[in-house]
Amino acid sequence: MTTIGQRKADHLALCATDEVAFKNKSTLLEQVRFIHDALPDLDADALDLSAQVLGKTLRAPIVIAAMTGGTEEAARVNRELSSIAEERGYGFGLGSQRAMHVRAESTPTYAVREGAPTTLILGNIGVVQAREMKTEDVLALVRGVGADALCIHLNPAMELVQPGGDRDFRGGLDTIRRLVQELPVPVIVKETGCGLSSHVGKRLVEAGVRHVDTSGAGGTSWVAVETKRAEAASDMTARALGEAFWDWGIPTGASVGVLAPLGFDTVIATGGIMTGLDVARAIALGAHAAGIARPALKALVAGGRAGAVRFFESVEDELRAVMLLTGSSNVAALRKAPRIVGSELRAWLEHA
Ligand SMILES: Cc1cc2nc3c(=O)[nH]c(=O)nc-3n(C[C@H](O)[C@H](O)[C@H](O)COP(=O)(O)O)c2cc1C
Repeated sequence: MTTIGQRKADHLALCATDEVAFKNKSTLLEQVRFIHDALPDLDADALDLSAQVLGKTLRAPIVIAAMTGGTEEAARVNRELSSIAEERGYGFGLGSQRAMHVRAESTPTYAVREGAPTTLILGNIGVVQAREMKTEDVLALVRGVGADALCIHLNPAMELVQPGGDRDFRGGLDTIRRLVQELPVPVIVKETGCGLSSHVGKRLVEAGVRHVDTSGAGGTSWVAVETKRAEAASDMTARALGEAFWDWGIPTGASVGVLAPLGFDTVIATGGIMTGLDVARAIALGAHAAGIARPALKALVAGGRAGAVRFFESVEDELRAVMLLTGSSNVAALRKAPRIVGSELRAWLEHA
């Protein structure tokens, strides 16, 4: 297996466990407490969960967030989860297409369009890789999988811990500006578990970015993933660095809350979304949809396709319950639902 292939295999194996969760930092979504409505004038079975995201209508405000590609196992994960997205009306994110760029023969492992003809499909590439690529080569990745939009991921914390990872992040914003200007499809700027601050959000707005994915702290720690890999490779220096930065990042709730007022067309709240209540809280803070990565993978690995479907059914059931119990007939109403916000989240919202 190639180096990229081995890394992808390690990622899937580690992320099927809880060993790579944040240790002492949460999403802070739990600090959003909805006010109960004892007299909802609503039918639980007639609530409208739909959301408009990037020009498509999702049946529920859920995106299966970027995970994988490049290996046979990745191909299976992509096929299963994208078919669930098609069936249930969610968005679906492919993992980094770097492998596809360097090895064209790995393209079929990303080929989900045939099995998900109407799904909102998001392509994916790292900003550091994109910096070295011509726009037409980036577009070839998007076209090669029939994606509706491209996620450009930012992951400096993970790269610093990864032995042999990137260390020079200069030119990131210029790369994003170029791709926003030159690509004929929407660009989503996405973190990978450390969140986007309001300062970064404002720089993205100035660069013309209209769509963001928080991928904040509190769910999967990518520093943890690389720390575990360093440990397995007996690289004690990388491991020590990783242990120190395991919980680094802006909690998802805070990231959503500071990005929402900046006027993006799309804010996807990813990072530690595990339940329908989490989805509801993220929407109340201003997200248009919530992204779920590792919990979806875990459900698939533990219970097969049926297990993953059961997981998503429970997320939707819980979201529906919150909507009814806050008197919200649709997602726009849920965004305004009365709530109390805890002091730690308020502090982050003020300063992040
Ligand atoms: C197995 C796995 C692989 C991932 N690979 C990518 C990737 O290639 N590109 C990317 O933008 N994010 C990637 N992510 C990050 C997720 O999209 C997400 O931002 C992060 O895991 C936080 O969400 P979670 O707490 O729901 O896992 C990956 C996540 C997992 C679990």
